[in-house]
Amino acid sequence: MENRRLIVGISGASGAPLAVETVRQLREMGVAVDLIVTRGGEMTLREECGIRPQELAKGCEAFYTQEEIGAGPASGSFAAMGMIVVPASMKTVAGIACGYSDNLLLRAADVTLKERRRLVLLARECPFSAIHLRNMLELTKMGAVIVPPVMSFYNHPQCIGDMTRHIVCKALSLFDLEPQGYKRWEGMET
Ligand SMILES: Cc1cc2nc3c(=O)[nH]c(=O)nc-3n(C[C@H](O)[C@H](O)[C@H](O)COP(=O)(O)O)c2cc1C
Repeated sequence: MENRRLIVGISGASGAPLAVETVRQLREMGVAVDLIVTRGGEMTLREECGIRPQELAKGCEAFYTQEEIGAGPASGSFAAMGMIVVPASMKTVAGIACGYSDNLLLRAADVTLKERRRLVLLARECPFSAIHLRNMLELTKMGAVIVPPVMSFYNHPQCIGDMTRHIVCKALSLFDLEPQGYKRWEGMET
C-alpha cells in the first residue's frame, strides 16, 4: 500500500453509523482520512446519527463536499492507498459503474479504479433490483470489492454496535489494515 492515507466517501444510503465507525477505526489505527460527503450522505448522517459532516471531519486530514470537484482526491497523483465508500447508495454505485463522475466522490472512485487502487463499497439497498445487481457485478469485474453491510452471527454479536464494528473491521482489513478488536473466524472447536 502506498501510504497510510485513505479516502472515505459517505453517500446517502442508510448506514451512516457505519461511516462514523469507519472514521473512528481509521483514526485509532493512525490512518489519515480524506473525507468526502455527498448531499445525500449529509442527510443520512443527520437523520441516523444526529451529526453534521463537519463534526465527523474533526480529526480527519481533510473534508470535502461533493461540489469540490478540483480537490486532491480528484487526481490520480493524489497519494492514497485507496478508497472506501461507506455506505454506498445505489445511485453512487451506478455512477461509479458507468464512470459518470459529476461529483467529487464519484470522481475520486473513478480515479481509484483507473489507478488500480483498492476500492471498497459498502453497497446498501434492500432488496436489490436487477439494475443494482448488474452494477455491482460490473464493478466487481472492474476490481472493486462489494462489501454489503450484512449481518453476521459467527462472531457472537451482543448488540448492534458489535455488528457495526465487525463489518467495518472486515471492510478495512481489505486494505491490509489490522483493525483493533477484529474477531476473525478461526475455525470451529471440534
Ligand atoms: C434516510 C434515507 C435513507 C436512504 N437509504 C438508502 C439506501 O439504503 N440505499 C440507497 O440506495 N438509497 C437510499 N436513499 C436514497 C439516496 O439518498 C438517494 O438516492 C440519493 O440521491 C443518493 O445520492 P448520493 O449517492 O449522491 O448520496 C436514502 C435516502 C434517505 C433520505
